[in-house]
Amino acid sequence: MDEEYDVIVLGTGLTECILSGLLSVEGKKVLHMDRNDYYGGETASLNLTQLYRKFRSNQEPPAELGRDRDYAIDLVSKFIIASGELTKMLVHTDVTRYLEFKQIAGSFVYRDGKISKVPSTELEAVKSPLMGLFEKRRAKKFFEFLQNWKEDDPATHAGLDLDKDSMKTVYEKFGLEPGTQDFIGHAMALHLDDDYITKPARPTYERIVLYTSSMARYGKSPYIYPLYGLGELPQSFARLSAIYGGTYMLDKKVDEIVLDSNGNFFGVRCGDETVRAKQVVGDPSYFGAGENGGKVRVVEEKKVVRAICLLKHPIPGTDDSDSVQLIIPQNQVQRHNDIYIAMVSSTHNVCAKDIYVAIVSTIVETDKPELEIAPGIGLLGPVYDKFVSVSPVYVPVANGQQDQIYITRSYDATSHFETVVDDVNDVWRRMIGSDLVLKKREVAVEE
Ligand SMILES: *[C@@H]1O[C@H](CO)[C@@H](O)[C@H](O)[C@H]1NC(C)=O
Repeated sequence: MDEEYDVIVLGTGLTECILSGLLSVEGKKVLHMDRNDYYGGETASLNLTQLYRKFRSNQEPPAELGRDRDYAIDLVSKFIIASGELTKMLVHTDVTRYLEFKQIAGSFVYRDGKISKVPSTELEAVKSPLMGLFEKRRAKKFFEFLQNWKEDDPATHAGLDLDKDSMKTVYEKFGLEPGTQDFIGHAMALHLDDDYITKPARPTYERIVLYTSSMARYGKSPYIYPLYGLGELPQSFARLSAIYGGTYMLDKKVDEIVLDSNGNFFGVRCGDETVRAKQVVGDPSYFGAGENGGKVRVVEEKKVVRAICLLKHPIPGTDDSDSVQLIIPQNQVQRHNDIYIAMVSSTHNVCAKDIYVAIVSTIVETDKPELEIAPGIGLLGPVYDKFVSVSPVYVPVANGQQDQIYITRSYDATSHFETVVDDVNDVWRRMIGSDLVLKKREVAVEE
């Protein structure tokens, strides 16, 4: 190991694997290491044995759950927005050739004690049981406004300025009820809380358009998901990196981030060997996460609680969908953060037939996180088994340009990967000094 690399990447979570792939394509000499003997870090998908080992130390999985090899259970629950940034990145890098995608069958929202489909066009709004007769007409007008909006045609703007007027003003313009605002802001624009309401409407408008255009692309929901689980994503980017000359070492314990006499990055020590590189990038767990004086800090107000639930039936009230996203907007359960439920099944080759894997998650607000997800668990019907974890969200304390140590962020509570892509773009800009530019193409999806 006396070669010198351009970049050492620590951890094989999705963010690090995307970066490693892109850096290799860019011609950088990359060494990629992980302390685990599997790819994916926090974004790995585990088989049953690995899952029970992780959460129950010595317990073997029950035989009735079936064969180990049928399982790939995600540790974080996120779907891919069909027209979103991650899709662009997958297509740009051609990583799609290692992956097969399937649609998520339904997008649902909880309102007034009931589960309903999220309407995304004026036609669906008119049919939706989410709203009363008069509200439907108002919602129809709102969706027409969104669909007809043309940037350079003020006649389509209904007197609104998306860059100045708040989303509150927009909602008021169309007279939408708070419950309707809830599903638009949370189940379509995918805001985690209500801070967006008083801010300029533009980003929310763009998020709703992203939702509706993704929905229009495949029909059933705006989300797609890789066969064999999310863990396929980091592995595919790792494959890309390897093709472009990246070197991989799994099961490699990193003992020290070695600095030079000026406190800048020098290399990575494993046992008594030190590998040198110009830059290092890695997930927070390699830089003192959980220790005092490390290079990362916990964002206290962003801790995430997740419950991986194994079911023997689809979620009641979701038309027997084999996969769903179900959002419980904060106001519906007197919280400040939404509760997300993401469910997948054997259709996506992630579990045995007749088993359904639902992950319920939210941002922690109290010292009893398990109670906070109870409204979500309550919608699942009988739960066969449940694995609960609370994960701190770490962010780097410095931008890395001083010491050439670049640290990624922990995975947040959002139900999609858009913020992961933001982090990739951000780290890229800091490391390379210019923006990452991607081409736009489409991704093929199995019906
Ligand atoms: C499941 O994971 C365990 C532990 O990593 C591994 O030994 C086993 O081979 C895996 N099972 C299958 C079927 O891949």
